[in-house]
Amino acid sequence: MTDEKNITIAAGGPYIVTGNVAIRSKSAIMSELGEPLGWKTEPAAETKARVALCRCGASAKKPYCDGAHARTEWDGTENAPPRQLPGTGQEPGR
Ligand code: FES
Repeated sequence: MTDEKNITIAAGGPYIVTGNVAIRSKSAIMSELGEPLGWKTEPAAETKARVALCRCGASAKKPYCDGAHARTEWDGTENAPPRQLPGTGQEPGR
């Protein structure tokens, strides 16, 4: 077993995270009036050598993949639009 941390994308499937990475989620802190006040970081789940994180949005066990991507219509080749660095018109890392 290795502790080298790595994220790979499974074709048509989840992100595969290896290396005992702590997976933490955040939940919104809301006021009594329903206004967002900030974020609360939840305690880390037990770390594992390998976890699969949902990339399709259909998992019933988010953030983990439960195999629903195989029964869901989604485009696993879709990429996030490149961001531009404010005021430069340049994309980061390019
Ligand atoms: S990627 Fe597997 S359920 Fe979403």
